[in-house]
Amino acid sequence: MINQFIRNLPKAELHVHIEGTLEPELMFKLAERNQIKLPFESISAVKKAYNFHNLQSFLDIYYQGTQVLQQEQDFYDLTWAYVQKAISQNVRHTEIFVDPQSHTDRGIPFKVVHDGIYQALKDAESQFGLSSRIILCFLRHLSAEQAMATLKEALPYKETIIAVGLDSSEQGNPPEKFTAVFDRARAENFLTVAHAGEEGPPEYIWSALKLLQVSRIDHGVRCEEDQELVDYLIKKQIPLTVCPLSNVKLKVFDSMEQHNLKKLLNLGICVTVNSDDPAYFGGYIAENYQAAMDALKLSQSEIIQLAKNSFLASFLDSEAKNALIEELNSYTAARSD
Ligand code: ADE
Ligand code: ZN
Repeated sequence: MINQFIRNLPKAELHVHIEGTLEPELMFKLAERNQIKLPFESISAVKKAYNFHNLQSFLDIYYQGTQVLQQEQDFYDLTWAYVQKAISQNVRHTEIFVDPQSHTDRGIPFKVVHDGIYQALKDAESQFGLSSRIILCFLRHLSAEQAMATLKEALPYKETIIAVGLDSSEQGNPPEKFTAVFDRARAENFLTVAHAGEEGPPEYIWSALKLLQVSRIDHGVRCEEDQELVDYLIKKQIPLTVCPLSNVKLKVFDSMEQHNLKKLLNLGICVTVNSDDPAYFGGYIAENYQAAMDALKLSQSEIIQLAKNSFLASFLDSEAKNALIEELNSYTAARSD
């Protein structure tokens, strides 16, 4: 059960893969729409298969699920369903990841993927006042040349894609593999982020910072193993987009009680809470706040700090950040009387 304070808390989401919001019900609907045979008999069979032992075991199923996404309308419907969830949990701003290569490699044009997602986000802004940004992620298990080709495909969409990122199988695919691609992306005025220190070692966080010059680290929970790195993240206030339910489902931590989110927050790192792949990991952003709060006994002021960090760490301009932080302040003031 999500408590009302968490559900209604104004917050930003900075780490959510739009393909990871594909609920089994929509997966079946799109499979039927596009005449695709799924390797599952029923929705409950799909849910039963979501039993992961590490990142790769999840990715194998996740990439399989994306195959039902074929037409612009499918990408619109996927994004719109996420928007409904986000609005119901008072997400005020969202920065969503998209993995174009998992679609273009199947022959789906980049434009189809982009336009469906972008239109739904535009409609969300006009109907609900939900602001958003799109972040294009390169699949790190594929080559740097393939990433560069994808970056070139994205150049006509510079106005609607704020940043590039790096996701997929971390171990054995260090950030330095993509130095030239990220150099080019920054030269083209994209901001940069990268998944690092989820399963990979602290050295991957260092190379994401130093070589890819990222503004944020996605996950980053293994920073704890390197004191110099922790000091650096604090000093530079480099945000971590932490995803508690994901980390437990993928066995980065054995249980939520063992998660280091509270510890990192109290050390002074700009930690944020996010859902990663909510359809696969058992909850959207509010469920992530709630699970972390319950297991780690987070105080109300720690919860508020996490929400404030989410606005500070976003790619909004300072005026928009201040307006949302003001909204958060009014919300919390009204509830502490
Ligand atoms: N793609 C989707 N979710 C991911 C995660 N948690 N880590 C790496 N790549 C991903
Ligand atoms: Zn992720």
